[in-house]
Amino acid sequence: MRVVMVSVSIIDDGLGIKITDDQQVMRFHAVWLRDNAWDDATRSSVNGQRLIALRDIPEDTHITSAKFDGDHLHVHFMPEDKTITYNLTWLSDHRYDLPQEPSRGWVADDIETWDSQLADRIPQAEFDTVSLDNRALRDWLYGVSRFGFGKLNGGPIHEGALMKVVDLFGYVRETNYGRNFEVRTEVNPTNLAYTGLGLQAHTDNPYRDPVPTVQILYCLESSAAGGDNMVVDGFRVAERLRAENQDWFDVLSSYCAKFEYAGEEGVCLTSRRPMIELTPDGQLIAVRFNNRSAAAITDVPYEKMQLFYDAYRRMGELVDDPAMEVSFRLELGESFIVDNTRVMHARKAYSGTGKRWLQGCYADMDGLRSTLAALNNQTSAAAE
Ligand code: FE2
Repeated sequence: MRVVMVSVSIIDDGLGIKITDDQQVMRFHAVWLRDNAWDDATRSSVNGQRLIALRDIPEDTHITSAKFDGDHLHVHFMPEDKTITYNLTWLSDHRYDLPQEPSRGWVADDIETWDSQLADRIPQAEFDTVSLDNRALRDWLYGVSRFGFGKLNGGPIHEGALMKVVDLFGYVRETNYGRNFEVRTEVNPTNLAYTGLGLQAHTDNPYRDPVPTVQILYCLESSAAGGDNMVVDGFRVAERLRAENQDWFDVLSSYCAKFEYAGEEGVCLTSRRPMIELTPDGQLIAVRFNNRSAAAITDVPYEKMQLFYDAYRRMGELVDDPAMEVSFRLELGESFIVDNTRVMHARKAYSGTGKRWLQGCYADMDGLRSTLAALNNQTSAAAE
């Protein structure tokens, strides 16, 4: 997209510039511009990494001239006596002079929160297609990134086949449960009542720090009726909680819960994190919710603990609300992937006898997003 810049002027005695485009005003600081120069002495032309540290930029850096030249802006810095050229589209894409502070709990532009109405447009693809076609892989990964989960159908049926799903975008996160873990269920008349209970939707392993950010579950045997999988968007839960009562949202995002797992010899995993995690500027980045591994919460002041529990209870009710869930059945060779920092998952109740065998493993969203971004660059370059 061509950016139409109308005027540029030096402000604050050379400590910044003001650019006016056809829609708005953008101010940039001299030190910010100098730090983000893309000349060969500042950035490696090979890998794009910065070659200088801030200490190499004079503290009294200021701008003495700024001029447009087509799609570029030439800026002259003193005391270095150096002219740097900026691409105007890059400047526009990296503007930070925004009209207002974001609200607590904002989500990134490339995230779309959802409820049960997503059922008709679950991000899903065929294993063979995404294995052979980079555009199809990109589209599927985009869906996983945007909605926090996705389904993959028609995969191979053999032990360890889930690793082929991980290979599409990243690397396995090995834990004390191994490279992968077994979820085997045999439903017979004596234990049907027990397994009929299902599980509350949760995020996995909240007691780890860092938490595994991707979980994959892969179906290798499925003869029991019921036992469907379901997912709930934890970000939508957080948004609903905030809409109902800002104090509930604030207490769960301001104070740390605790999580613990010490269920096997030689393992004692603990973490101290909020159930709703925000960045310092309020971006919603993670939800941790798991009744089975919640430890005693001790980092909430006495005066706030009742409010905390009211909020925690309501959050659980929202997680359990059928209007929030998307459910599906995994058949042989089918798998699903969840962003474990956002989307909760559960198994629903069984309604008949038989066997069900799933294999699960963990991986990470940073690798998935990296693969997605690289595929985006690759496919957009091919289109040019
Ligand atoms: Fe789980």
